[in-house]
Amino acid sequence: MKRVTLTEIHEHPIAQKYVKRAGLAHAISAAYHAFHIAKDFDVNPDLAVKAAFLHDIGHYTWYRNGQWDYNLYKENDIHAIKGAERAHKLLIRLDENPVSAKEISLAILLHTDSYLPERGIQREPLQRVVALADEADEEPGGAHHYRNITDEKAAEMIKKLDDKVVTFLNKQTPKDQSAS
Ligand SMILES: [Fe+2]
Ligand SMILES: [Fe+2]
Repeated sequence: MKRVTLTEIHEHPIAQKYVKRAGLAHAISAAYHAFHIAKDFDVNPDLAVKAAFLHDIGHYTWYRNGQWDYNLYKENDIHAIKGAERAHKLLIRLDENPVSAKEISLAILLHTDSYLPERGIQREPLQRVVALADEADEEPGGAHHYRNITDEKAAEMIKKLDDKVVTFLNKQTPKDQSAS
């Protein structure tokens, strides 16, 4: 099965609309962190970069009287739930392997516990990688959502990360591949 690339995901209108809403620079940066952290957890970097790139795709803009309202967001946010579903739909449309699409979607669902009534989730390795990658790029006051990046720079960085993933996957021995 041909690998669905991050570039294809990034170029899809669903990602263009919703990943940009939560911050394209944050999504790319989290994906790079995920690539590196995945190695420490022996996690497939292909799944890690896709989940990290899409982790905030479920964000909604909470405005009151034309202003972003953080309290409204904290009270009502379910971006991880919405994102898990939205990312899954996008991946399936792009013909992603359904097992991978489900794993990515679950990692998005569990990337934050801010929407859960009780804390203390036990995360599996891929889910931990994505949560850590998100945290690694966080800035006080949610500033990481507002960093800017040009479309050209974004496309270039995403292509570079695709190449890193392919190089890594090609270096794996057949035994490694059957284990992942
Ligand atoms: Fe998030
Ligand atoms: Fe995030």
